[in-house]
Amino acid sequence: MKTILVAGGAGYIGSHMTALLVEKGYDVVVADNLCTGHWQAVKGARLRVGDVRDGAFLDRVFSEFPIDGVINFAAFSLVGESVADPLKYYGNNVTGAVSMLTAMKNHGVDKIVFSSTAATYGEPEKQPIEETDRTEPTNPYGASKLAIEGLLKWSDRAYGIRYAALRYFNAAGSNTDAGIGEDHHPETHLIPIVLQAALGKRDHVGIYGDDYPTADGTCVRDYIHVRDLAQAHLLALEYLDRGGESGPFNLGSGDGFSVKEIIETARKVTGKPIPAVVEPRRAGDPSVLIASNRKAREVLGWKPERGLEQIIADAWTWHQGHPDGYGD
Ligand code: UFG
Repeated sequence: MKTILVAGGAGYIGSHMTALLVEKGYDVVVADNLCTGHWQAVKGARLRVGDVRDGAFLDRVFSEFPIDGVINFAAFSLVGESVADPLKYYGNNVTGAVSMLTAMKNHGVDKIVFSSTAATYGEPEKQPIEETDRTEPTNPYGASKLAIEGLLKWSDRAYGIRYAALRYFNAAGSNTDAGIGEDHHPETHLIPIVLQAALGKRDHVGIYGDDYPTADGTCVRDYIHVRDLAQAHLLALEYLDRGGESGPFNLGSGDGFSVKEIIETARKVTGKPIPAVVEPRRAGDPSVLIASNRKAREVLGWKPERGLEQIIADAWTWHQGHPDGYGD
């Protein structure tokens, strides 16, 4: 396995994947339409600008390079937007996956690591969440990813394309060595918003509800360093290359932190006051999402290396150095 296609490799998690593969000596080809990604985030890899829904574009990429495996990040990922515009989410995410699998089948590529999400579970039955738990998404974003997991399962049976569907919990942090980080427009995620408030780019952080059934009343999430996430993708690709069995894998730390704990930790890491104001709940937020990462540990040999303080410290380094993100 030498040449890897990273679709969506100019995005937040995709660019961290690209950086890791480059560091490990792989030939990396990034395919990205730059609709939410940033060309500046692609370092040390070839970038082909185009849309994964465009079969002719993918045919050109697969013909130009001897692709051994695919990691597919290309997708829309805003939960709220998906509720307002489900056609956009099914249209882009599912159609993009169909197009990618078609190109893989036509070009004889038989391994794909796919970005799935904790949003496939919806409101969880129990904590920590295991891969075998009920999947009943509560928004079109999660539903589009679960639909693709179904497509992957059937494509494995029909065409022998093996897959790892990696269900991310809350990705955060940055790669301070590569000088890449998180830059979304608009930003909706808690940690970047908290750090923008620390920088004075926002006057406060809104806490979306403090009446949840949790210890301090705010929602609990499982935050995982984006570099640990990238490492899991590499292990998943190697596992598939060894002939490993297809399936879903949770990627989380196994620890939960409340919104208030995140703000408190960010105050400690940054030394800034970070004003916070309690606001109404955000529609569709489950109260607690914590991963069981037992399967990824046992089957992939993965182990998250970086805890919450490191996640926030690395994100803070990025935001301080890039207060306007990539500036595009
Ligand atoms: N939150 C706030 N204030 C903010 C932003 C977020 O209180 O300004 C809270 C949210 O209500 C939530 C927690 O902080 O309780 C984390 O919110 P994020 O938006 O950072 O992340 P989510 O847990 O909502 O979303 C993440 C991924 C999604 C994925 C989802 C699975 O970003 O892609 O987990 O449920 F779909």
